[in-house]
Amino acid sequence: KKVVLAYSGGLDTSIILKWLQTEYGCEVVTFTADLGQGEELEPAREKALMLGIRPENIYIEDVREEFVRDFVFPMFRANTVYEGQYLLGTSIARPLISKRLVEIAHETGADAVAHGATGKGNDQVRFELAAYALDPDIKVIAPWREWDLSSRTKLLEFAEQNQIPIAKNKRGEAPFSVDANLLHTSSEGRVLEDPAEEAPDYVMQRVTPVEQAPDAPEFIEIGFEQGDAVSIDGERLSPATILTRLNELGGKHGIGVLDLVENRFVGMKSRGVYETPGGTILLEAHRGIEQITLDSGSGHLKDSLMPRYAELIYNGFWFSPEREMLQALIDKSQEHVTGTVRLKLYKGVARTVARWSDHSLYSEAHVTFEDDAGAYDQKDAAGFIRLNALRLKLLATRARRLK
Ligand code: ARG
Ligand code: SIN
Repeated sequence: KKVVLAYSGGLDTSIILKWLQTEYGCEVVTFTADLGQGEELEPAREKALMLGIRPENIYIEDVREEFVRDFVFPMFRANTVYEGQYLLGTSIARPLISKRLVEIAHETGADAVAHGATGKGNDQVRFELAAYALDPDIKVIAPWREWDLSSRTKLLEFAEQNQIPIAKNKRGEAPFSVDANLLHTSSEGRVLEDPAEEAPDYVMQRVTPVEQAPDAPEFIEIGFEQGDAVSIDGERLSPATILTRLNELGGKHGIGVLDLVENRFVGMKSRGVYETPGGTILLEAHRGIEQITLDSGSGHLKDSLMPRYAELIYNGFWFSPEREMLQALIDKSQEHVTGTVRLKLYKGVARTVARWSDHSLYSEAHVTFEDDAGAYDQKDAAGFIRLNALRLKLLATRARRLK
């Protein structure tokens, strides 16, 4: 038996690795992805070797470009937020990890994949729905749902018995649980569990507290082609480079911090602190370019579908026909979403201050309060209002009659 494990190199997934070897008697293949979490990956290789993984069974891959190009950018074409606020930084990374787990299982002849998500959260659902969508016969092992290592003490005992090194600061309770990638850093649990208590400052990992952000604003220009960002200040950059730059800028100016109580797919509410500096700028900029390039019919339709699309991603249905159908509609809407947005970054806020495009639908000739040289006949509005008012008048007449 062979299993491909999503391996971070950290304590928990190292324990899972050992547990799969000892309790399941499996040969373990490890997959460690660089999603832009900002951690060295070579230590994960050394640790895997030390835990007895054969060199050819260690997969370490930089998937940052694929992550941004094929997952983050398509999602941003819809201006996607879950429950009005969450930019889905964790949710959107899970299908990519699952896809590679399944592909590596096929390459190495493994019949199972394993992940380190708990049995209480969304991530287990996302990993597993994606895996089953890509291979109906794949087996999934979720140690957190199976083992009896139910407390931190038991986990640490297991680690000690199996010569798994424990970093000094890991002996005590970690103050909260973190998931990071190029789109965001999320923190949940422990000191954050009481939503009536303000999150302590040390939770923040990549965004400068707004009080310490620079006193001078910074202006940037983001270029878009068909809904995707392609340049910053005129310089053409790859998707991952763009998001990396925007993260630096947003982090510096205190942009993109969210403290949210959300509804998990498994039924409970949970409180998280999210830092999405680059994504928050990108969302604002994308709305800025859509303002001039989308007509109201397209814009309002895609906006009305966005919450459904967000829920599909949150709930783990990235690889589903309904997500793909919505994606086709969203992508179609982006045909003319090309142009440039100028933003002001200042004290926690990214604000669009100018936008222009060869594809613009904005007509100054029509909208101007000055002489429009016959572009628009104000008399047309009288009949327009009369017919729209007709049923309102009939309703009001009835109301008066029945009073
Ligand atoms: N609540 C967020 C979500 O469901 C973040 C989850 C964080 N995951 C983690 N393993 N720490 O998308
Ligand atoms: C987990 O349970 O592993 C993290 C939280 C979540 O998936 O919602």
